[in-house]
Amino acid sequence: MPGAGLKVAEKAVAGVAGPAIQLVDLTKRYRANLAVAGVTMSVPRGEVFGFLGPNGAGKTTVVKLLLGLARPSLGQGAVLGEPLGSREARRRIGYLPELFRYQGWLEAREVLALHCELAGVPLRLRPGAIETALETAGLADRGRDRVETFSKGMQQRLGLAVALLGDPQLVLLDEPTSALDPVGRHDVRDIIRGLKQRGVAVFLNSHLLSEVEQVCDRVAVVDHGRVVAQGPLAELLAAPQVRIRCTGLGGESMAGLRRRWAFHQDGDWLSVAGIAAAEVPDLVAALVSAGARIHAVEPGQQTLEERFLQLVEQP
Ligand SMILES: Nc1ncnc2c1ncn2[C@@H]1O[C@H](COP(=O)(O)OP(=O)(O)OP(=O)(O)O)[C@@H](O)[C@H]1O
Ligand SMILES: [Mg+2]
Repeated sequence: MPGAGLKVAEKAVAGVAGPAIQLVDLTKRYRANLAVAGVTMSVPRGEVFGFLGPNGAGKTTVVKLLLGLARPSLGQGAVLGEPLGSREARRRIGYLPELFRYQGWLEAREVLALHCELAGVPLRLRPGAIETALETAGLADRGRDRVETFSKGMQQRLGLAVALLGDPQLVLLDEPTSALDPVGRHDVRDIIRGLKQRGVAVFLNSHLLSEVEQVCDRVAVVDHGRVVAQGPLAELLAAPQVRIRCTGLGGESMAGLRRRWAFHQDGDWLSVAGIAAAEVPDLVAALVSAGARIHAVEPGQQTLEERFLQLVEQP
């Protein structure tokens, strides 16, 4: 209910401890392009929240609005109980941007020292904070090396180290593992779990659905600037489904079957979500009478990827 949400946001804006993020009807228009189209959502403190969507869906724009790097055209929001973009909120946020470059001539330690200064980390705490950040990001032995000698993945690790400085209460990670190898991705998942254990909320923009599935408590799926689904991961994937490997189905026979069931097709695999177990024999019989040869029938839960494709493929 937008009205109720608005009250919550107003309260949060007024300084009462609210959720980590509260957005009400947040909208961003770039000329004719509606990048964010009325997003209402809430991220509880201390949770890992996955923000998913296809390219151009508006994920990075939402992060920029959260930080005050872009101003909303309409709507409002609060971060850690403070208005969007306020200095107080920013001081308590860690941020790994999607695209960034540090000066190549700086050593990793110098980059971190600069960001300690920017984040207002007290002088006496800086050496320890830099050491911990390097250690956590897996760069303990590269602190004295210049950024220009770093591989793409090492630069992303350094960006993550910067985001962890200053004991943030909320960490915004925009595609944190796009340049990382499988070991790096595993490390980042561990870092995210560690943050959660310390009560830090994490807002994770990611295309890597398996990654989101492994670490997130709650997710929102955004498409064309709108949130098309949100909730606890377990609820979002609650629909039972059946997967069937079959060959020999023509387009025409499929058209008839689609009137009765909503299929998702991936090569020889068909999946049908939300189907009752008692209906599966009917489905198999209908496929066979449409000329299909059935090789496997597997009941199970939807994967996040299947749910995601179902949500963003709808016309
Ligand atoms: N500064 C800008 N000026 C004009 N249009 C913009 C600007 N920034 C973003 N957009 C547009 O807003 C829409 C959303 O972009 P955004 O970068 O938020 O998408 P995204 O979901 O982060 O995509 P990706 O997965 O590719 O990173 C796109 O249509 C993009 O072209
Ligand atoms: Mg983006």
